[in-house]
Amino acid sequence: MSLFTSLEKEIVLVTGGFQGIGRQVVETFQDEKAIVIAADLAYQNTQLEQKNDQEYQIKLDVSNEKSVQNLAEQLKSQNLTPNILVNVAGISTMDYLVDSKTSDFDKTIAVNTRGTYLVTKYIVKLMVAKKRPGKVVLIASQAGKNGYRAMSAYVASKHAVLSLTKTLAIEVAKDQINVNAVCPGIIETSMKHRERKDGAKIRGLSPDDIEKEDNSQVPLGRTGTPQDVANVVLFLASPLSDYMTGQGINVTGGMTMN
Ligand SMILES: NC(=O)c1ccc[n+]([C@@H]2O[C@H](COP(=O)([O-])OP(=O)(O)OC[C@H]3O[C@@H](n4cnc5c(N)ncnc54)[C@H](O)[C@@H]3O)[C@@H](O)[C@H]2O)c1
Repeated sequence: MSLFTSLEKEIVLVTGGFQGIGRQVVETFQDEKAIVIAADLAYQNTQLEQKNDQEYQIKLDVSNEKSVQNLAEQLKSQNLTPNILVNVAGISTMDYLVDSKTSDFDKTIAVNTRGTYLVTKYIVKLMVAKKRPGKVVLIASQAGKNGYRAMSAYVASKHAVLSLTKTLAIEVAKDQINVNAVCPGIIETSMKHRERKDGAKIRGLSPDDIEKEDNSQVPLGRTGTPQDVANVVLFLASPLSDYMTGQGINVTGGMTMN
């Protein structure tokens, strides 16, 4: 099998496709000639809007059931049911557990865990009805495998994403849909830059101190880029990974090895 399997004419839904890792995933699939639907809270239009031959955009709040239902209905009625779903949308909140706001806990679980549940519930249902082989890639985190200080809600929400990955993988294997998760490490995006500022405040350090600490923890000697993550997403969406399902693949420069 060729390393470069064409994804021409594949329809890919990417949540969180406005910026950061999600935007890189959108562009990476476009480079492979796929048609991409980018869905994100940051867009204005709740109707699917065609941007060019290869991209549609729509406003989506993954934590809101009506918003996810609206997305599913529009994809179906416009004959844009995806055979590849990449759920990237996510948020993080930071504080020590005993000091943290319950509302931050609820918000983080609502977007990262409930959002993953809702998006897979409505979109995988469409994929199954389409009766074509498909791939689901959920962005979890190395925080789905380890504990991290001042990130209890995020850690809990991402452990849950890996549990949804495993269960869904078993349930839709008969429909020829593979479900895997990617567990990024420290990736340079606006989320990470904000976390460095918040973490510095909580720990009485500077963001530069945290950045140095971040780099020192990665065996490969550098933090990751959105492209590092998008490359593995592409692999998990391609026929090259046909015999993989229910996995949580680390993209951490070796920082997490379990
Ligand atoms: N950056 C990292 O170090 C890192 C590490 C591990 C995992 N991740 C995960 O990768 C994913 C992307 O993170 P990023 O670093 O690119 O962050 P980011 O903040 O740059 O991008 C997140 C995107 O998700 C969108 N979004 C947020 N809430 C949403 C909602 N309710 N509905 C729809 N869209 C919503 C935002 O508008 C934004 O476009 C997240 O799930 C994050 O948890 C990031």
